[in-house]
Amino acid sequence: MTKTLTIPPLTEDLAQVLIDAATIERRVDEIAGEINRDYRDIEEPLILVGVLKGSFIFLADLCRKLRIPHVVDFIAISSYGSNGDQQGNVRMLMDIRENMSGRDVLIVEDILDSGNTLAYLQRNFATRGAKSVRIATFLDKPERHKVDLKLDYMGFTIPDVWVVGYGLDYKEKYRTLPYIAEMYPVH
Ligand code: IMP
Ligand code: MG
Repeated sequence: MTKTLTIPPLTEDLAQVLIDAATIERRVDEIAGEINRDYRDIEEPLILVGVLKGSFIFLADLCRKLRIPHVVDFIAISSYGSNGDQQGNVRMLMDIRENMSGRDVLIVEDILDSGNTLAYLQRNFATRGAKSVRIATFLDKPERHKVDLKLDYMGFTIPDVWVVGYGLDYKEKYRTLPYIAEMYPVH
């Protein structure tokens, strides 16, 4: 049987492919390698906390390349002023099921924009007695940062443009594209 690989074409909303699927796969491999090395002596399974919904594809690819004991959990967050220009008012909509006291936690996020979401999660998890809290973000938009955050694992730095695909959406569209595409400005 012949296998044909079809790449969903760009639609009129999308300006260009910024990061193609093969490049994404190589980078996720590298990040998994770093995590495997850094946590090689871990005693209790690492808790991977995916921030819904955007991180689910990155998390799915990443966790299948891990060779250390780990469990997968999810969290849902809402941030008011979702264009990112407002104060960082972040609220938890759904919490993880694991008890993170005394455990190593790795937050898995799709993109670091203002940094409000990750700053909130880091603070929140620290008060719950996690042994360590690190951050893995697939993308980073340094021009948009409003808070200082240490990124432990980061896939790609991108300019201040709206991107979709590989879990990231625009009003729930384009989330499952296998590449990262830049959208034309929508406003
Ligand atoms: P932050 O709290 O401002 O860092 O918000 C980050 C969240 O905004 C991410 O988890 C995404 O859900 C969303 N976001 C920021 N920039 C983009 C983008 O370019 N495309 C899709 N979602 C984005
Ligand atoms: Mg998100």
